[in-house]
Amino acid sequence: MGSIIGRLGDFPQGSIKEVSIQGKPYAISNIDGLLFTIDGRCAHAGGILSNGHLVGKVVTCPKHGSEYDVTTGKNLKKPRIPFAKASDLRSYKVTIDGETVILEI
Ligand code: FES
Repeated sequence: MGSIIGRLGDFPQGSIKEVSIQGKPYAISNIDGLLFTIDGRCAHAGGILSNGHLVGKVVTCPKHGSEYDVTTGKNLKKPRIPFAKASDLRSYKVTIDGETVILEI
């Protein structure tokens, strides 16, 4: 199913923004002009990833520092909490139709 989530200009290069579809949050990142989508909440304790720091293709969760590759959802670094587990997030396909951005979920 494809859902229109905005226009290309809504997702500037180097940004990470949240969109919500039917109450579920997604984090959309623009890396060098390409858009990528992963789950919007950290797998550890629900940190809002669009509030995190994006450097290159890595976002750091604002809660406890888990790091994720925004192009794949892969967890790259565990939370800064003893014994906390890390897990990967799902990634989703984004398609562009003219200026329209469509998230395939
Ligand atoms: S909620 Fe993201 S690292 Fe804890």
